[in-house]
Amino acid sequence: MVIEPIIKGVVARSAHPYGCEASIQQQINFAKSAPQIKAGPKRVLILGASSGFGLAARIALTFGGSDADTIGVSFERGPSEKGVGTAGWYNNVFFEQEAEKAGRIAVNIVGDAFAQETRDQVIEAIETYFEGEVDLIIYSLATGIRPNPTTGEKWLSSIKPIGDSVTGATVLLENDEWIETTIEPATEQEIESTIKVMGGSDWESWVDTLINAESIADGCKTIAFSYIGSEANYPIYRDGTLGWAKVDLHQASHSLNLKLANFNGSAHATVCKALVTKASVFIPTFTPYIIALYKAMKEDGSHETCIEQMQRLFTDKLYNQNTIPVDAERLIRMDDWEMKPSIQQRVAELMTQMNATNFKEIGDYQGYKQEFMQLNGFDIKDVDYQQDIDLEALTALQP
Ligand code: NAI
Repeated sequence: MVIEPIIKGVVARSAHPYGCEASIQQQINFAKSAPQIKAGPKRVLILGASSGFGLAARIALTFGGSDADTIGVSFERGPSEKGVGTAGWYNNVFFEQEAEKAGRIAVNIVGDAFAQETRDQVIEAIETYFEGEVDLIIYSLATGIRPNPTTGEKWLSSIKPIGDSVTGATVLLENDEWIETTIEPATEQEIESTIKVMGGSDWESWVDTLINAESIADGCKTIAFSYIGSEANYPIYRDGTLGWAKVDLHQASHSLNLKLANFNGSAHATVCKALVTKASVFIPTFTPYIIALYKAMKEDGSHETCIEQMQRLFTDKLYNQNTIPVDAERLIRMDDWEMKPSIQQRVAELMTQMNATNFKEIGDYQGYKQEFMQLNGFDIKDVDYQQDIDLEALTALQP
């Protein structure tokens, strides 16, 4: 069978396995050719390892100079009668193959990171493969739902403004349609649930679990990813439910930092650049900002994708010197280039000009969409998309 891209709204309903393989290879090639990570960690646990920043961090740490072994947790689906499976499934499969070829350990645990069973599996894997300890824990989950660990009831996140409604445009990737929408402000309940799902409490509880299991190595660090943005998107991000959840995450980084100080380690929230990922396309009214940002940063020669952000994080910030460079709120700023005044000024100019008819010319919609397609294994150079794919052979590929 030939696998075609299927997009519904902003969600990809199909993925191309061999495109995902090629994308993993491209990211590995980048990590190998970039400035190398020095004195990096050797045993790394990544929660949310199959796509976006988590996957890029895994590739950078394995192939970008640190020669790390990794345990990656993710929630992905393999091929079945229902479909070909998710891109993240194939990313796990092909990453593991490449890591093993390079003599590195790569363990994939596919399951719900909120379930006790998954924690037990992780601790067992740390015992089996890492001599019982980890040097770095990366928390990179992005999800809309988390069970309450005491009652099992589900918390659902809502990406909404707080206080006032927000009106703006979202471009549907399915048909490239610019849709003006008004998002009503979140209720108290929605704010609270979003903080539970995307805030710092699960990160903290994971690290507590690892401390209790005596799985923390001397000098162990932990990071989780955050976003702040600029005035152009404060109403939907920083001042909305997601922004409040990120403040909670920043606070968790401080209490975790105290706990890890007992192991000569540290905890940091790391603010990344706005990028197209499976998760970020869900943020309503965010498209005009991100396509203006892509345009401005490409003009400036400073556009980075997830792999470039992660390689720079480990070489320039986290493992570069004795003290990790942070801002006044103890945040690591990987959004430093996005926040440059000249970039923000250009973004503002482009956003004022942009509308439903000209957004493809004014913003870098083409680049944005291409990155989205590539996340799912499509639109990648030198992949034969007409090839006949044997589903049975794919089923044999286990992460
Ligand atoms: P993504 O959607 O590409 O990756 C999310 C990962 O979490 C995947 O590996 C997925 O399998 C895993 N996951 C989700 N639910 C799970 C569950 N219940 N159990 C186990 N694994 C699960 O997302 P992305 O964008 O890389 O996001 C990671 C973090 O980076 C998030 O905290 C996000 O807020 C943050 N961030 C994202 C930015 C962006 O522009 N994409 C910018 C700055 C921060």
